[in-house]
Amino acid sequence: MRRTRTTGFMREFFGESRILNDNLIMPVFVDENLDGRRPIDSMPGIYRHGLDELHSYLSGLSEVGIKYVLLFGIPSRKDSSGSSAYDGNGVVQQALRIASEVEDMMAIPDLCMCEYTDSGHCGILSGQTVDNDLTLDSYGKIAVSYAASGAGMIAPSGMMDGQVAAIREALDKEGFEQVSILAYSAKYASTLYSPFREAADSTPSFGDRKSYQMDPANMYQALREIELDIEEGADMVMVKPALFYLDVLAMAKETFRFPTAAYSVSAEYSMLLNAVGRGIVPQGAITEAVASIFRAGADKVITYFAEMLASGNLSD
Ligand code: PBG
Ligand code: ZN
Repeated sequence: MRRTRTTGFMREFFGESRILNDNLIMPVFVDENLDGRRPIDSMPGIYRHGLDELHSYLSGLSEVGIKYVLLFGIPSRKDSSGSSAYDGNGVVQQALRIASEVEDMMAIPDLCMCEYTDSGHCGILSGQTVDNDLTLDSYGKIAVSYAASGAGMIAPSGMMDGQVAAIREALDKEGFEQVSILAYSAKYASTLYSPFREAADSTPSFGDRKSYQMDPANMYQALREIELDIEEGADMVMVKPALFYLDVLAMAKETFRFPTAAYSVSAEYSMLLNAVGRGIVPQGAITEAVASIFRAGADKVITYFAEMLASGNLSD
């Protein structure tokens, strides 16, 4: 066995998986209230971007070889129905129009309501609980609005039951049959989203997301979630988070042989970066971590390390 790994050439030749720029998706935060950029304290190296500098930031990503970005909007106003999410001139709609001018880039809007509702929940409330079916109508409206602003792919992340079917139906009805759906299918109620909630200003004002996001104890339930999304018309499914859930990812890929993404979430980024920054592990831990997600079966990996990896700024 040693023959296949003694030299760099041999190791590369026999490599079973590889981190390629084409398979990376970089999350991007766009803040409607902002001019320029503002650092996110809990995620060193990651910024919120104003619409004024979005084009230049995305062009820079494109130049280092990033083709896909996942767009998150921070709107200038929130209300109980999250109406700024389907405002034709909303922050993501404006961002999509800007992104469409960037060469070799596809911007995928994340579709959820937690950045837009004053409750910070991912859907519309009836009393103190998120009303699944009421929320589906809004998701459909948001999807159509994103498609009308140029989105070629939409990524619903709210974990409402039936969201993929509702979005597919709304898109088809308005003539957007070609717009595809990257479904957050097995999204866990994870502690690892905390830095993101600071980044996107989407912390729930009360309660938690356990009624719609999955229990970390469950594996077979994830397969049922994924199966439903495939039936409802998802074009790619997703497991999220990634590193603590590689077993789920591997099982999902093996079971369905369906296009599958994994989202290496905000705290995966912050924890690793912190460990590297403090000299606890070498920088190679980052490539090792991302490699493990591809090895487990991901076709695409959403990671805040995408820009760094593509720039070739990481050592062993
Ligand atoms: C919105 C959404 C979240 C993330 C992606 N989309 C937060 C949440 O569900 O609370 C988390 C991403 C990350 O932590 O990087 N529903
Ligand atoms: Zn949400």
